[in-house]
Amino acid sequence: MLPLKWSTSHAVFVTEIDDEHKEIFEAVSNVHRALTSHGPLSETRKLTQRLTSCIVEHFAHEERLMRAARYDSIEWHTEKHNAAHRRVEQFVQRIGQGDTQAGLEMVEYLTAWLHDHTRLADRMLGAFLRNQQRCMWKLTFRAGTKPMDACDWVGTDGERFDPA
Ligand SMILES: [Fe+2]
Ligand SMILES: [Fe+2]
Repeated sequence: MLPLKWSTSHAVFVTEIDDEHKEIFEAVSNVHRALTSHGPLSETRKLTQRLTSCIVEHFAHEERLMRAARYDSIEWHTEKHNAAHRRVEQFVQRIGQGDTQAGLEMVEYLTAWLHDHTRLADRMLGAFLRNQQRCMWKLTFRAGTKPMDACDWVGTDGERFDPA
């Protein structure tokens, strides 16, 4: 199985997304620990619930960012989220019935899915958002630039002077 820990190889370089990914990796790891330590079912259910909330909130967050940025690949990306969500729901139902094997299968599925999804789909989204952010800075800068004749000329000593 792939390592359950988030590493920089999963980074998309958008802090708010990377932070949520770290939280999800951590939540998967907690479920894995509860399953392999054969703790009480109530604990596994609670940690599974926490994991699914993190995932649902994170998907919704990325989808809001994609809509706001008018991201071209939003349908493709959202369909990947929906497919993973459907699979997780199936595992959760089985876990709720006390099926420990379903928990381990879910951990394995999510670890591989997160590994692939963060490194391709989310990284593409991250690059798009960063690029858009750069364009916004340029626009703000240009919109804020005064016409030449409205600028003051300031010498190296900090004193104003008239170049004419
Ligand atoms: Fe995503
Ligand atoms: Fe993501």
